[in-house]
Amino acid sequence: MDYKELLAKKIQENLDVDLKLDFIEDLIKIPPKPEMGDYAFPCFQLAKSLKKSPNIIAEELKNKIEGDYFEKIENKGPYLNFFVNKGIFTKNILTKILEEGDKYGSSSIGQGKNIVVEYSSPNIAKPFHVGHLFSTAIGNSLYKMMSFEGYNCTRINHLGDWGTQFGKLIVAYKKWCNEEELHKNPIKELLRIYVKFHKEAEKEPELNEEARECFKKLEDGCSEEVKLWKKFKKLSLKEFKKVYDLLGVEFDSYAGESFYRDKMDAVIDEIDKKGLLVESKGAKVVMLDKYNMPPCIVKKSDGATIYATRDLTAAIYRKKTYDFYKCIYVVGMDQSLYFKQVFTTLKLMGKDWADSCIHAGFGLVRFADKKLSTRNGDVIFLEDLLNKSVQRTLEIINEKNPNLKNKLQVAKKVGIGAVIFTYLKNNRERDIVFDWNEMLNFDGETGPYVQYSYARGKSILRKTKCTGSQLDYSKLNSKEEFELVKALNNFKDSIINAIDKLEPFIVTRYVIEVAKAFNKFYNAHSILKTKDEGTKLARLQLVKATCQVIKNGLNLLGIDVVEEM
Ligand code: ARG
Repeated sequence: MDYKELLAKKIQENLDVDLKLDFIEDLIKIPPKPEMGDYAFPCFQLAKSLKKSPNIIAEELKNKIEGDYFEKIENKGPYLNFFVNKGIFTKNILTKILEEGDKYGSSSIGQGKNIVVEYSSPNIAKPFHVGHLFSTAIGNSLYKMMSFEGYNCTRINHLGDWGTQFGKLIVAYKKWCNEEELHKNPIKELLRIYVKFHKEAEKEPELNEEARECFKKLEDGCSEEVKLWKKFKKLSLKEFKKVYDLLGVEFDSYAGESFYRDKMDAVIDEIDKKGLLVESKGAKVVMLDKYNMPPCIVKKSDGATIYATRDLTAAIYRKKTYDFYKCIYVVGMDQSLYFKQVFTTLKLMGKDWADSCIHAGFGLVRFADKKLSTRNGDVIFLEDLLNKSVQRTLEIINEKNPNLKNKLQVAKKVGIGAVIFTYLKNNRERDIVFDWNEMLNFDGETGPYVQYSYARGKSILRKTKCTGSQLDYSKLNSKEEFELVKALNNFKDSIINAIDKLEPFIVTRYVIEVAKAFNKFYNAHSILKTKDEGTKLARLQLVKATCQVIKNGLNLLGIDVVEEM
């Protein structure tokens, strides 16, 4: 059993009122310093139901809780500090990890709750850029964590595949597209003609009118326009899938903006019937001035629908289809106001569930290396970034471990892992500055460092037999060993916390802490050369458990481990 759960049970049994186990477990905290014990229990919240002061409750509990699970229980004012029995604690947790294996850290907390996670959502005919990877990495990781904790998740890629820009693209295609280039390098060619369109339209504004007509035809389902649009979409998706394959990312649905094209009228009607639709400069809008926001435009003055129309429709569709408990939008913070407008409009439409729509925003991506930022104008093609990272990792491996087998495969996992790790390392709202030397530093707080710790552990395990009758967990009694064991125990808490805040970095930090604790242990104690057989076996179990936790943790971030590097 989980030690925290065990403690919660002990507290529950010794209280004079009936309190739920979950409630008690939630109150148990992990103190910031080891001197304050391994667990702390503040008694404030019990004062009301017990009609006693927190200090008295703490004192009474201290005297009542018995058994050898705790070495010491201290009572400091309203707090109880618990010092676990290290031997029992260590045995409990290591056995649990080794028994549960890949499932260690999972739970059924989310059972019965449907979650929609929308992420990635690149735009057809445009590059998959570094911002989309931010969304992809966060969304993929949130999906993995939530599924791990029992939520029923649906992954949606809300492709930007509809809108007036496709009218422009069709016009540009007919005028300037180089078919050969288009098939060799679809996105680059589509981007080229799209940029050209804007340049030409400055000189020749009639082009815009042509584009509008084209989009109108597309919305009306004219076969030629639809055929071209389908072609762009197919070519783009093929490129995007290359990136998803590199990253190991998947989706349950690619219902992008175009998916809602025949569903928007009904929603506009509904808005109108509720008396929310107002005419403004020829456009149809929902006024949000009461909420200090600009109006939410639903139909443009030329009668075309807009980004927001599709988001309103998508939210309603998702609620109906997936009956979500939460619908999470992983989209850059530059769209924060926009999502507030959309969610508020839904609320005005009487959709109470709009409160379960959450915008999980993120910051900007910048590069310390100027060259990369300017290569393709302002956009950085993600494939270039990933390939470059793999290339650099390969160079490092060639230097550090020239005889390694499957070098390229390892470099792929480490190089791509390093990029994902960088995205998930900090609070998502913080901007990222990419710095190659920092990102690929095997000794820094990086993906390669964590992967290296895992590979190091695995190499120890490969060198010897890990089982025997003399295994004795109580021998893991040094400071370094116990700190590592404690870190391993905190895995589930960190996942739950990450889900609560929709912040994968909490798990990223967690795996860094585990890797650090592992390296401290490794540097302070010999493992293979340990004389005492019982101690050696226990240490090997600790190594095995550590590797398992690192693997599970990285997996939740969307990063693979490598057995050797
Ligand atoms: N396609 C958009 C972009 O690249 C992101 C879509 C965000 N999701 C949404 N439901 N609006 O900026």
